[in-house]
Amino acid sequence: MDRTVYITTPLYYVNAEPHIGHLYTTVLGDTLKRYYRLVGDDVFFLTGTDEHGEKIVEAAANGGVEPKEFTDRVSGMFRKTWSDIGLGYDYFIRTTDESHKRYVQRVLDKVHEAGDIYFAEYTGLYCVGCERYLTVTELEDGKCPDHQIEPKEVKESNYFFKMGKYREQLVAHIKANPTWIRPERYRNEVLSFLKGPLEDLCISRPKTRLTWGIDLPFDDKYVTYVWFDALLNYVSALKSPSAEFAADEDRFEHYWDKCNHLIAKDILKTHAIYWPTMLMAAGIPLFNQIDVHGYWLSGDSKMSKSLGNVVRPGSFDEQFGIENLRYFFFREMSFGQDASFTYEVFVERYNSDLANGLGNLLSRVASLVKKNLGGVVPALGAPTPAEQELIDLAAALPASYEAHFEARRFHRAIEEIRGLLGATDRYINEMAPWKLARDESRASDLQRVLAHGLEVVRIAAVLLSPILPTRCAEILAYLGEQRPLDGSVPLAGLAMFGGITEGHELGDVPRLFPRIDEKKLKEVEEQIAAAAAAAAGPSRDVAPLADEIVIDDFAKVDLRVGLVREAELVEGAKKLIKLLVDIGEAEPRQIFAGIRAAYEDPQVLVGTKVIVVANLKPRKMKFGVSEGMVLAGHSVDDSRLATASVSDGLEPGDKVT
Ligand code: MSP
Repeated sequence: MDRTVYITTPLYYVNAEPHIGHLYTTVLGDTLKRYYRLVGDDVFFLTGTDEHGEKIVEAAANGGVEPKEFTDRVSGMFRKTWSDIGLGYDYFIRTTDESHKRYVQRVLDKVHEAGDIYFAEYTGLYCVGCERYLTVTELEDGKCPDHQIEPKEVKESNYFFKMGKYREQLVAHIKANPTWIRPERYRNEVLSFLKGPLEDLCISRPKTRLTWGIDLPFDDKYVTYVWFDALLNYVSALKSPSAEFAADEDRFEHYWDKCNHLIAKDILKTHAIYWPTMLMAAGIPLFNQIDVHGYWLSGDSKMSKSLGNVVRPGSFDEQFGIENLRYFFFREMSFGQDASFTYEVFVERYNSDLANGLGNLLSRVASLVKKNLGGVVPALGAPTPAEQELIDLAAALPASYEAHFEARRFHRAIEEIRGLLGATDRYINEMAPWKLARDESRASDLQRVLAHGLEVVRIAAVLLSPILPTRCAEILAYLGEQRPLDGSVPLAGLAMFGGITEGHELGDVPRLFPRIDEKKLKEVEEQIAAAAAAAAGPSRDVAPLADEIVIDDFAKVDLRVGLVREAELVEGAKKLIKLLVDIGEAEPRQIFAGIRAAYEDPQVLVGTKVIVVANLKPRKMKFGVSEGMVLAGHSVDDSRLATASVSDGLEPGDKVT
């Protein structure tokens, strides 16, 4: 079609490893890139990592490393994951790249000089998870609805971007461009948010609080707010030096106004409000479109590390293959709405559509060609009405397929391809070529049926190639289709009957989509359940561990074996028992122990061995002096309580270390 398209994914935060949510948007970008190439467009696909801000500093500190080392490591993990599974981005940008940092500073200078940045004191509710201030109306029960944490009240002097000034201009743009934000529900959401006043945006953080960021060019006591930094990547990436373009500006000129952002609904406000107003202030033309998709849920719940239900691309690839997940992504999600991922439904769809559908059609037709025609592809011959129906169905497909892809109705495109495959299956069942093969007088019928069957598989593989690139390339190679999928032959031509050369010799029938059996599914589900249980920790409520100590701290505590000589209740003290404990000294020690709840009859303690903290400073109590402490174990709610004991063979006064 000869259009120019620039596709971007969000830059993922490097505070966590990639999961299938990130994978989805990146696969979406990769699929769109392949689709645009298939229809002959010039496309540039950008992804990358967002590496500044408080969230990252926190994650690095938790990992015990410096932010630089941490971001290098996790950003590398993203890049490796994408390249291991063959996602074909054209450029991977990191917000810590020098060229990006310089560009952010240039824009800040420009907007500052134009008078759209001012200094003021501000008090606001900050959510570190969102890395932005929330308004009170956004909170649910006082908490951030996305992160379920109470935002921190932050009061400080900062720089502000006059975002509010651009509200009307933005509303006018959205109204004049009905498909600028798609699907429509998100456009409406943004318009309704913009009905209220639009506050200015705090775009700095004082270095006293955060140093991991890009210095403000006009005040080095501040770093840039992470969103004012990260959003600019979409432009800075085009301005980074490239081999193909003579000057930085050329690539920007070539792609920028064809920019199509892909995001999920979580970052709609930043992309549909912050970003365009930033562009307006910087005097940069607006991007072309934002496509907003819903969330992948794990069953019905949000994916979260603490629930142990996060699906990692690497493990999925080993279990069932990412290629097959790509198919599921587009088959299952209706763009814009949330969708549910479960292994069970994944296997169901895989088995019905790929193993029993496309895979089975290829293998049964190819096997018959091998068995009855020596593997040589026969001529299509003159079509019967039944075959003409298939031909007509296929001829109508490219146009509706393109319309669905352009409107991001991927599940509908798949439905139509499945329609063609289903019709072909029924046609083959009716024609029963295995019977024709036994009747020599019907040799030409057999040839026609098999040739038509193979053509449908080829056409389906062409159309599914953006979604299932590896498997479809294998199918096309097997069928001898050598024309490139790059628009040099129009899609309508590629998807037309007659693409397979008569006389092409088929090799061994490939098993591209082997059925996944129940056993394998069970195995994987068990692994997942075990991992989730491990993530959830012990099922009982266990007290959190105290801060770490070193051995020298522990060595300060002198623990001794003690023999309880006497034990009695203490009048007026509901919790205490008075003990006389022999720890090998001239006199037994008097110790008041808070263990009465477990020993209604203290006499049972007499004669037992306990462990005593012998060097604890004596404590004067209402009932007398307590000369040490007896160790006892207890549950969080004290429903289980008992003295700690020692094994036989130890005598009063022996050290416990
Ligand atoms: N760093 C910001 C984006 C800056 S863009 C200039 C950020 N990063 S993120 O790591 O949190 O990525 C959010 C994006 O990851 C979503 O918008 C979506 O593309 C993808 N997803 C993360 N979890 C997802 C699901 N559970 N389901 C679908 N996509 C999800 O926000």
